[in-house]
Amino acid sequence: MSLLQGKSLLGLQGATREEIELILRAAARMKAVVNSGNKKLPLLRGKSVVNMFFEPSTRTSGSFEMAANYLDASVVNFMPRGSSLVKGESFRDTLLTVTAMGVDAIVMRHKQEGSPLFAHQCVDPVIINAGDGAHEHPTQALLDLYTIQEVKGRIDGLKVVIVGDIDHSRVARSNVYGLKTMGADVHLVGPRTLLQPELAAALGVTFHYDLDEALEGADVINILRIQKERQGAGFFPSDGEYYSQFGINAVRLQTAKKDVLILHPGPMNRGLEIGTDICYGSHSSIQEQVKNGLCVRMAVLYLTIIGGDENGITR
Ligand code: NCD
Repeated sequence: MSLLQGKSLLGLQGATREEIELILRAAARMKAVVNSGNKKLPLLRGKSVVNMFFEPSTRTSGSFEMAANYLDASVVNFMPRGSSLVKGESFRDTLLTVTAMGVDAIVMRHKQEGSPLFAHQCVDPVIINAGDGAHEHPTQALLDLYTIQEVKGRIDGLKVVIVGDIDHSRVARSNVYGLKTMGADVHLVGPRTLLQPELAAALGVTFHYDLDEALEGADVINILRIQKERQGAGFFPSDGEYYSQFGINAVRLQTAKKDVLILHPGPMNRGLEIGTDICYGSHSSIQEQVKNGLCVRMAVLYLTIIGGDENGITR
């Protein structure tokens, strides 16, 4: 079986449960390798991966680079600022140039929604979307799903509440697609200015404008970063006002289940969307998410470039 071989990962919209489960199983194998302290598993020896990040990134770019390194691929970090793009070369020509060097996968982050799809239509290598504007960020959602499954033992039937700046969030969209496919009961909550009812309706999920109402009986809370760089001014009166209405802290957790799991994709704005008291508290798996991100990206690179399933992941 080779479900994902040669397939680009552009988003989780349309991804099947079988595909997601395969990635989660492969990521668990990768995690066992990472936890063993063995930093090389030469499954991608002889393969090459190019990271093209047109937007700032710390954990996602670092994690993809580390993932490719762990698997022994050759990795090149393409620097848009130092490239021929600044000399007027088109995006398409840049992609063709990179492809002509014989790469197997291109990991791409771009502020323009649809850029990874465009790249997929232009060139042959596998394209992995590492975040395109406010559209999708599939590996982030996969690592969130992985973390939920690891901590809770299942995803099916859990109440998952995604809080905050929904309209600007690619993390929210990919999470909604993935969570729904895996059978979770998904709720969105945020201020009216950051959560359009049409979006919630189009995504087919429940939405709220009252945090306490949304958190009632929650199994998982996924807290989004307030994306100041994507917003114009004036979505809420002040940071203090946002925190008092939608910030998650120990007091707000009281309506959720006792063993509620807290996730955040990072980077966190402490004191804005999340209280310092819970960032690294007993409910939080925020640090573990970073490790899981590495393992999920190793799995995605392996399954799309090489194919097969988790049984191929042996030392
Ligand atoms: C997210 C992103 O860039 O989309 N972060 C990440 O990938 N670690 C979320 C965010 O920036 O808010």
